[in-house]
Amino acid sequence: MQKILVVDFGSQYTQLIARRLRELNVYSEVYPWDEIPVLESVDGFVLSGGPESSNIEGNPNIFNEILESNKPILGICYGMQVLAFQEGGEIQNEGKKEFGYAKIDLNNQTSLFADTSDSIDVWMSHGDKVISLPEGYETLASSDNSPIAAYQNLEKNYFGLQFHPEVTHTDFGLKIIENFINVCGVERNWNADDILKNIHNQAKTEVGEGKVLLALSGGVDSTVLASVLHKTLEDRLVCVMVDHGLLRKDEANNVVTNLKEKIGLEVNLVNAQETFLGKLKGIKDPEEKRKIIGNTFIEVFETEAKKIQGIEWLAQGTIYPDVIESAGNSKSKAKVIKSHHNVGGLPERMNLKLLEPFRMLFKDEVRKIGKAINLPDEIIGRHPFPGPGLGIRIIGEVTKERLDKLREADHIFLSEMKKHNLYNQASQAYAFYLPIKSVGVVGDNRIYADVIGLRSVDTTDFMTANVSNLPNDFIQHVSTRIVNEVEDISRVVYDVTSKPPATIEWE
Ligand code: XMP
Repeated sequence: MQKILVVDFGSQYTQLIARRLRELNVYSEVYPWDEIPVLESVDGFVLSGGPESSNIEGNPNIFNEILESNKPILGICYGMQVLAFQEGGEIQNEGKKEFGYAKIDLNNQTSLFADTSDSIDVWMSHGDKVISLPEGYETLASSDNSPIAAYQNLEKNYFGLQFHPEVTHTDFGLKIIENFINVCGVERNWNADDILKNIHNQAKTEVGEGKVLLALSGGVDSTVLASVLHKTLEDRLVCVMVDHGLLRKDEANNVVTNLKEKIGLEVNLVNAQETFLGKLKGIKDPEEKRKIIGNTFIEVFETEAKKIQGIEWLAQGTIYPDVIESAGNSKSKAKVIKSHHNVGGLPERMNLKLLEPFRMLFKDEVRKIGKAINLPDEIIGRHPFPGPGLGIRIIGEVTKERLDKLREADHIFLSEMKKHNLYNQASQAYAFYLPIKSVGVVGDNRIYADVIGLRSVDTTDFMTANVSNLPNDFIQHVSTRIVNEVEDISRVVYDVTSKPPATIEWE
């Protein structure tokens, strides 16, 4: 398989480069800068950004094996600086930092910049810059702050970009990466089926004849993973779903029935509702609730898993944005991204080996895999649902009565969203429960009851989010239904706060 190797110098965006290459149907692998790569089948290299300075003794550099391989190289940010430095150029460490948007003007629209524009808005994030080029190199573009914002050496097919073509803020970013792919001459035939094949092969070679346990939440990632692994491992995959009583209306049964009917996968459903509710009794603090739910989950799951003989592996649907990276535990050099793991603590406690085939993928790529194996849209298109479930959507104490009311209200909201074709346009929509008494009038009677809130957001990465612009009459229609159909709810409110400053979940 022909590929482009992404050499990781520790940028937050390294995986994004690999992802863009996959988007353009090119197979790519991320490799740490301090391991000599296997050069077989490599048609080109992308050098990532990174937090260091290229001209300081002992800092990350490019192996001579790469420079002597006669393959095209694209250096991005730190990668651009270190390439220029090792080739004999000069780097300036001090000076103005450039962060955010910048405009670059091109001297030359050939090769790397073919079919772009003579002036491009780009995303910069750097302190150092190249101030003089090695011999045989020419400047391709300049910005106010970076006279050498892009360079090339056409004889060697070496290119450097001070900005980040991999982020969506850079205009023509994907086109520039595509142009580099063309320089490499690599075939563009990599797709979701190939990713699937890789996962099958990985599962076959790593797991061998072993048995794998999978904690199924019913969300997109774990459901797609269960379906993929079921094809490879068949009966050696055991799926356990814990119903903690904090799931949405009919959720557990729907997941179990769906998987059974659609792909013939048998799920062990554990009803632990009473255990969870018992432990949550009287607890109001959000962090305490999260801890109790997380720990109880581990206890219940462990007890169930011990009933199954011969398990060696735990499969998790962890995707890249969930991954906590540290230099010691992975090939990646990226820094911590997000601190919650799907089923944190389980593998060590149960002494299980961890299988995480999606850990380098983004959510939309997992969805593509789901499509490739013909999972129904209702599974692939589901909005994310947090591990602690409705437990963090009821403000304050979680009780059975509040859960039941919230489940009804949430069901009304989401089914109306689907009916009005709004569900697929929003990234995450849900109802939450506010235990605040407010006065209402129903028929001729005064009521004094709790409040339901509705939230819907649009986002691509869940790090920032805008409030969905739902039609006013739609919200009013949902509100009327909730107040009429859910007992003892006095009114409905719509949350109009973006993230930041608010988070997506209320707790
Ligand atoms: P926040 O509320 O941090 O949420 O803006 C961002 C995304 O993460 C989900 N989320 C969680 N998912 N366990 C999870 O598995 C959690 O503890 C958790 N907290 C938040 C949230 O639903 C949103 O998609």
